[in-house]
Order: sequence, then structure tokens, then C-alpha cells
Amino acid sequence: MKIKIETSSPDKKKTSMLCGFVVEGSDKILGLDRIDSEIAPFVKQSIIDMGGKFGKISVIPVKSPAQRILLAGIGKKEQFTKDTFRYVSGKIAQKARELKLREFSIICPPSSESTSTVSQIVEGCKLSLYKFEKYRSEKDNSMPDLFIISPKSDKIINTIKTAETVSDGAIFTKSIANLPPNECTPSTLANFARDMAKKNKMKCTVISKDELKKRGFGGITAVGQGSKNDPKLIILEHNRGKTSEKPIVLVGKAVTFDTGGISLKPGEKMDEMKFDKCGGCTVLGIMKAVSELKLPINVVGIVPSVENMPGGESYRPGDIIKLYSGKTAEILNTDAEGRLILADALSFGEKHYAPKAIIDFATLTGACIVALGTNVAGMVSNNDKLKQQMLESSRNTTEEIWELPLNDDYMDMIKSDVADMKNVGIGRAAGTITAAAFLRNAIKDTPWVHMDIAGVAWTQVATKDKPYNPKGATGFGVRLILDYLQNI
Ligand code: BES
Ligand code: MN
Ligand code: ZN
Repeated sequence: MKIKIETSSPDKKKTSMLCGFVVEGSDKILGLDRIDSEIAPFVKQSIIDMGGKFGKISVIPVKSPAQRILLAGIGKKEQFTKDTFRYVSGKIAQKARELKLREFSIICPPSSESTSTVSQIVEGCKLSLYKFEKYRSEKDNSMPDLFIISPKSDKIINTIKTAETVSDGAIFTKSIANLPPNECTPSTLANFARDMAKKNKMKCTVISKDELKKRGFGGITAVGQGSKNDPKLIILEHNRGKTSEKPIVLVGKAVTFDTGGISLKPGEKMDEMKFDKCGGCTVLGIMKAVSELKLPINVVGIVPSVENMPGGESYRPGDIIKLYSGKTAEILNTDAEGRLILADALSFGEKHYAPKAIIDFATLTGACIVALGTNVAGMVSNNDKLKQQMLESSRNTTEEIWELPLNDDYMDMIKSDVADMKNVGIGRAAGTITAAAFLRNAIKDTPWVHMDIAGVAWTQVATKDKPYNPKGATGFGVRLILDYLQNI
């Protein structure tokens, strides 16, 4: 979808649909001061009739210059959030597609916070029109263009551009995360990373099975050994900060399919474990946007990728393996595989890059869905400042997170009788935290946050319906971390 800024006054704009926001109970469209006197009473009555309730959409036919006016309710002013315009713009864009329009125009409301509003409009429209159609014979290729009606300024133009790039990052994440497991293996993901690096001047390194083994990545090689699709460790480096500046390291779990391995999962909904690569896809989407935005910082993306399969060569419950950190882990459940590959990647990231901060994303535990549901991600951290920065970006983007505690009592819950630790906790108690405790052992004292995105990475039955999260992968974390990276 092409997005352009339109500086003519809204009542003059020739467009197939002129869209405006209506506050609940008001009789005006925000930013539309003048209107053809002939249709004014009719439009005014329609505004009063539709009421401006949040999310309500009403389309009225008018005569030129616009062919239709779309009224979009945004609710009461006191109840606005940083999601209001994203959500409602998504509804508008989907209406435009339903009507098969080639373009539509949104009147940007005049407000002090207009850059946030503009970003929300762009993100809402772009993300809501994304559809995963790669495998359909009959595709809906219609993609309307968008005019944002607003006075021109460099600030607005840059805001639109940035929001487009951020949205494209999230869309990239969705589109690779949605790929089926037969078409997306660890080496497929490695190829996506290589392509992206070539296009956007990043450094890409892919470490393959033999070298992983040689260099002591015991977690990645153990989990990967049961599949004929070999494990890969994918590393992307974006270096546009000072050479002396420590990087931010992003780590993402990419299990391209999680059967559970020898501790096989039940069949029900096992297909959804194609989404067990979402953390890694989030990191790739962030790196794509970071490099396209040419952010003047150093960022490293590390994606350990494996397929967790049962078979004659699989790792087993009872095995004791040695992680990249040098610590040993007793395997008690081969379905607790994510923490093993992440531990290797976290230790490697800390040792190799001495980063300022490490942030990891992982569809790590079903327990996180039990604790927080499917609209809020779980956060565990060892650093107050980094945690606060995450919460701030969460407020800015409305990608919601909630902190869970991690103290020494939880660390004790993963002590093993025979090794340095075991890969499960005690029964079902605090499953999300004991998984995080395992990760905590992989790093020394670098500021770290872990995001358990098991509930939010794709739309599940209990997921709140939002136009910008169509069925499938959500790209959770891309907007969140890009907000954080733009603010540091
Ligand atoms: N990928 C799963 C976690 C998961 C399950 C995410 C369902 C989203 C929906 C992870 O590898 C896993 O299987 N975790 C186990 C850990 C347990 C064996 C300690 C789980 O949550 O049951
Ligand atoms: Mn698993
Ligand atoms: Zn998993």
C-alpha cells in the first residue's frame, strides 16, 4: 500500500472515500472544519446518528469531490489510549478493502500528540491489510492506497516513513512466522537473514551443525539432533553506532516445529507449534526495520533455530548435556527445548559482544498462557532500568507485558541431583519463572529481559480480536523493541 500526505483541505479532496474520526457524542469530524453547505445538514445528522462509539464505522454516500464519507467512532476523549487510532484506522482500512476501493483518505485529527496519532494511523492501516495468502490459489490482491490529509511538515513526513518501516518489519515477522513447518526450516530462516543482510548492509553469520558441535553449543545441537533439518545459529549485526559503543543484543527462539521430541506432545493443536519460531521471527523483523531505518546504534540479532523431532537420533529424557556456558543440564523433558537453545545463544551473545543489554523473545511456556492469557506477554528481568524502559515502550506501543518475579527460591527449583541444573522445574509450579531461571543461569550480570510470548505471538481462541492482528502470527515485540531502540 502506498501512503501519501495530502495537503489540500479535506473538503476539496477528490477521493473514493473521505474518512474522519468522530468523538462520542460530538457532531463534528475531527479536522474537518468546512463542508459543502448543500450536504452539511445531511452529514451532520449522520454524525449525530452514528454516535461516535469506539470502533463503530458508518459509510455515507455523498456527491463529489469525495464519493463517500466514512465516519469512524473513537469513543470518549477520556478513554483514548495509544491504541485508539491504530485500532480504528485498522477498521477503516478493512472497510476500504471490503468496498474494493483503489484508494481512501483519512483526515488526520489536529492534536498536540499528532506524531503518535499519525504513526497509529499508518500502523493500523498497514497491519490490518496484511493477509497470509501465499498458499491460496485465489488471492485477494486488492490493496488500496492511503492519503493522509494533514498540513505538510518534515516531522509528519518522517513520522509516516518511520511508521511504514516499523509496520513492514512487523509484517515481515508475520509473513515468515506464518510459513508452514514443511516450508520453513532452520536453513530457510538463515536464508531470510542472509538476504536481508545483503540488502541492508548488515553482517550475517550462520553457524551450522558441525561447527556448533565443535564450538560447544550443546543445547542447540542436542535439541536439533533428532531432525534431518539441521540446526542453525543465525547472527545479524547492524553496526551504525560508534565502534566503542556496546551493542544491544536481541535473541529469539526459533523452533521451526516443536513436536516435543521423545516427550511427545499430544496431537491436539500440535499444528500450532509451527509458531514456535515466532521469537526468532520477531528478532529478524526488528533487524530488518533497524537496518532500513539506519538507526545510529549497534544492534545484534541472534536466532538459534532447530526443529524438535522424535526419532532414533533424538536427545532423550535422562541425557546430560553441556551448554555453551560450560554448565551441565539434565534433560528431564525434551519438550522443554526452548530454554536449551536460548541458553546457548544468550551465553554466546554475552561472551562475544559484551552487550549493554540482552533482550530475548520466546514462545517458551504454556504456563505463561495460564498465568497471563493471550493478550499480555510475561517479562522476567535482572535489571530495573531495562525493565522500566520495556514498560515505557509497552505503554507507547500497547504491546502489553507484565512482570513476573525471579528470586533465589525459583533458582533453587531447577537444581538437579546429577548436573548443574535440570531443564524443568518442580511439577507445574511457576512454569514460566522456572524456565526464566534456566535462562538466568546462562548469563553473568549483563542487564537482561526475557519476554515469554507464548500467549501473544499468534492469535489463539482467547485472543482479543483486533483489526491489526488478523488470524495467525502477530509480530508481537517488533513495535515494542523498535520504540525502545529509537528512544535510547
Ligand atoms: N513451545 C512450547 C511452549 C508453548 C506451548 C507455547 C503451547 C505456546 C503454546 C515449549 O517448548 C514447551 O513445550 N514447553 C513446555 C515446558 C514443560 C515441558 C516444562 C510446556 O509449556 O508445557
Ligand atoms: Mn516444547
Ligand atoms: Zn517449544
